[in-house]
Amino acid sequence: MVRSTFVLSLLASAGGFLSAEAKEPSKAKHLSGSYVVEFEDSQDASEFFNRIDSKAETRMNFDSSIFKGASIQFHNVESAEDEAAALAGLSSVKRVWPNRIYDLPKDEIVWTGKSKDASAAHSNVKRQLGNDTFSPHLMTQVDKLRAKGIVGKGIKIGVIDTGIDYTHPALGGCFGTGCLVSYGYDIVGDDYTGYNTPVPDDDPYDGCAGHGSHVSGIIAAQANEYGFTGAAPGVTLGAYRVFGCTGSAANDVLIEAYLRAFEDGSNIITASIGGSSGWSEDPWAVVVSRIVEAGVPCTVSAGNAGANGLFYASTASNGKRVTSIASVDNWITPVLLTDSFFSVDGGDEETFGYVVGDPFAWGGVNLPLWAPSFDTTEAAQGCNPYPADTPDLSGKIVLIRRGTCTFVQKATNAANAGAKYVLFYNNVPNGASGPSVSEVTTIKAVGMTTASQGVAWVQSLAAGSEVVLNMTDPETAPVSLITSDNTITGGAASTFTTWNPTYEMDVKPQVASPGGNILSTWPQTLGSYAVISGTSMACPLVAGIYALIADVRGTFDPATLEALIASTANPRLYNAGSGDANVLAAVPQVGAGLVQAYDAAFATTLLSKSYLAFNDTDHLEKTLSFTIKNLGQKAVTYKLGSVGAATAYTFSDSIYPDIFPGLEVSDEYATIKLSRSSVTVPPQGSASISVTVTPPELDGSRLPVYSGYITLNGTNGENLSLPYNGAVGSLYSTRVLDTGYLSISTDPNLAPVNGSASFVLSKNPTASVTLPVAVAFMAFGSPRISIKLLQIKGKTTKNLGDILDSPYDYAPRDDFPAAFDGRLADGTYVPPGEYKFSIEALHIFGNAKKARDWDVSVTAPFTVRYA
Ligand SMILES: *[C@@H]1O[C@H](CO)[C@@H](O)[C@H](O)[C@H]1NC(C)=O
Ligand SMILES: *[C@@H]1O[C@H](CO)[C@@H](O)[C@H](O)[C@H]1NC(C)=O
Ligand SMILES: *[C@@H]1O[C@H](CO)[C@@H](O)[C@H](O)[C@H]1NC(C)=O
Ligand SMILES: *[C@@H]1O[C@H](CO)[C@@H](O)[C@H](O)[C@H]1NC(C)=O
Ligand SMILES: *[C@@H]1O[C@H](CO)[C@@H](O)[C@H](O)[C@H]1NC(C)=O
Ligand SMILES: *[C@@H]1O[C@H](CO)[C@@H](O)[C@H](O)[C@H]1NC(C)=O
Repeated sequence: MVRSTFVLSLLASAGGFLSAEAKEPSKAKHLSGSYVVEFEDSQDASEFFNRIDSKAETRMNFDSSIFKGASIQFHNVESAEDEAAALAGLSSVKRVWPNRIYDLPKDEIVWTGKSKDASAAHSNVKRQLGNDTFSPHLMTQVDKLRAKGIVGKGIKIGVIDTGIDYTHPALGGCFGTGCLVSYGYDIVGDDYTGYNTPVPDDDPYDGCAGHGSHVSGIIAAQANEYGFTGAAPGVTLGAYRVFGCTGSAANDVLIEAYLRAFEDGSNIITASIGGSSGWSEDPWAVVVSRIVEAGVPCTVSAGNAGANGLFYASTASNGKRVTSIASVDNWITPVLLTDSFFSVDGGDEETFGYVVGDPFAWGGVNLPLWAPSFDTTEAAQGCNPYPADTPDLSGKIVLIRRGTCTFVQKATNAANAGAKYVLFYNNVPNGASGPSVSEVTTIKAVGMTTASQGVAWVQSLAAGSEVVLNMTDPETAPVSLITSDNTITGGAASTFTTWNPTYEMDVKPQVASPGGNILSTWPQTLGSYAVISGTSMACPLVAGIYALIADVRGTFDPATLEALIASTANPRLYNAGSGDANVLAAVPQVGAGLVQAYDAAFATTLLSKSYLAFNDTDHLEKTLSFTIKNLGQKAVTYKLGSVGAATAYTFSDSIYPDIFPGLEVSDEYATIKLSRSSVTVPPQGSASISVTVTPPELDGSRLPVYSGYITLNGTNGENLSLPYNGAVGSLYSTRVLDTGYLSISTDPNLAPVNGSASFVLSKNPTASVTLPVAVAFMAFGSPRISIKLLQIKGKTTKNLGDILDSPYDYAPRDDFPAAFDGRLADGTYVPPGEYKFSIEALHIFGNAKKARDWDVSVTAPFTVRYA
């Protein structure tokens, strides 16, 4: 639900990007006064700890072969940046980063069960008898591996998330040795919000958030009443809890979780977490990259920001060597209907199904139906107040057709006529969804039945019959699974899946897997099962598939596994949400395409790369090469070719990337020349192929990103493809700063201040005063944002250099506010007087020393005094 309002607010802003309100309001958030520090390998860190001694407290110590360092919190937040800058100068310190905060992914919760005891959750879903028929598995060939008895036995997968409800019978029912969830740690505790101090304990139970329990079921759910299993039910899971019941997680918490998952011997680590970035240099991404380098494959979801258009890569999936996972929609849309009973004119009870809404006090309700209209085609049924002669509806269940106005409005009109129970019927053939009308306080229960059931009842009512519903209790009633084929977007990229590439033209995502409309486990306290959509759901499936492939091949080598899933994946057709187009989906949207687990597990051809990145026009890598290795026992001849995928235009007539759907795609492909059109590779031998690109001749000012696949058809029956991408135009020449302006710290919307503004600052850093704020309104990502202070003296201005905290490295494409408390980067207070900010953002691939590589915007003047 959250996702769709997010998309709508963006679509509503498609017209112009001139005001702060018109742009996506997300901001990269940091924990004030907190830093992640990496130590030099060979150096003693006591110098560092002596230095911070009384000024800061250590949040976490990192002592792993992957990363040695600490995260710290300065007691005095106001002077923290000075101190942090000084720390960076110590010989024991390699790097210092601000401690960034990440939100729980905004996945769409489509349906949740109502049973608080999963073993008592009854369903009329057919149990699997040997064969895996779960559609995400059919889409990715997991069923074919499972048919051979491959389950990822004994492989350890670390899950970085909200913890796992290991009490759930489908998630093993216990925690510890011998259990499905056999290891892990709670790094944060229930009350952690991202902004307070984590309170760790050794129990990573998820009883209040749900996300991690859903993700874990996708990997390893055991057979259950709902008729599915995880991809690799033979693995054991490690649960690393990084979110409390609500809120966010900081970098240091994520780093700690990854280091623990690594040190505890995880063979694979997965995280369905991310934040807008586009840069691989973020500390969390750096740690994940190093773990991959150390031999543990890591999958990270690509993000749910598809609406933001191209170049919106998410960290840590945008880290080097990290396998970034995009989402495609499920072939089927699962609809879970709670079974209940009805009778017509006192006849036999018959069964019907409905989706439980909110509230849902249906248990024991036994009342006749009443409909405001017998017209089963009426678009706006129940949208107007009921006529005065309406009977008292307190003893009825009001049956209303879905459509036009909101559920709340329809429920309010019914409630005003005395109704306590409302059942909607759908206005489209397939399925139903659970309405929420909880703000209409006199309504006790709500739900929605299918269109066909609703129409049948209305016809009975119209014929003068009485229809009585005998409602079951949603917490204990059986549930039936209705599957409708998704003929519009099934198998195509989910519209929410984030578009790449990175700002440095790295190919992301690597592959796609089903993440739209996925049924999995959910904490028993929250209803035991749920259907959710997001790249969060696509990512764990690939982690499970990595386990299955590793089980078959006996290797965890990350580069090998990634090359196998990429080369055997199936490219997709472009689909902007309304059906397949006649062109392949762009690599920056789906990577190599939909994962094919069986082909990857048994391929005897191994490519040396999982993608080719040709970079932009300025840095064009005209010729790249890769190696084909034949691991089989017979010589194989490969026919080589290439196929273009949709070229996607980043910009149209604005300096902001076009939003999706809405961005332009075309079939103007690059020309690919291969060093040979066919090659015979002896058994256990290899051959090198060079690939020369001629980018399409297109308008570089619109930064079109071209992509496609090198294809290999082997006489061993293996058809492989290797994705590539590149951009026409210059990232270096692309404007990154829209404008910079002056605002004030007390305005939550950070609107521009007009006219002259004056501020009374305090030299007591703990005093609460209104500060001037420099707002960098970013159109594109920048490797460095610098906020400088200009002193106005009569007709001249003098540049005093960076303010405290500035500069900021690797900025995503988000609004960037920086408050000024009177101090410059060296910690000195400027004298009272008149000033302006010079807001400066470095171009991608720019040279910080060259003035012309910066976009600069000077704000309105303001005066500063001290109290
Ligand atoms: C499982 O699949 C195989 C091959 O498709 C089929 O022959 C067999 O009947 C199926 N078994 C069940 C129990 O459906
Ligand atoms: C309502 O359904 C329940 C079963 O859930 C049944 O035991 C009961 O007799 C029914 N009540 C009526 C009035 O039909
Ligand atoms: C593109 O070129 C720039 C400049 O040389 C380089 O920093 C970047 O890593 C290149 N990108 C890729 C994916 O190779
Ligand atoms: C390779 O196989 C694919 C089907 O997987 C086919 O579409 C393509 O035309 C084949 N290419 C060559 C060069 O035969
Ligand atoms: C590979 O492509 C050829 C056509 O070029 C096709 O006949 C064959 O079935 C394909 N093999 C697989 C495994 O898809
Ligand atoms: C400044 O002016 C703009 C338009 O001229 C207006 O939208 C904005 O709200 C004003 N800001 C303040 C703080 O009054």
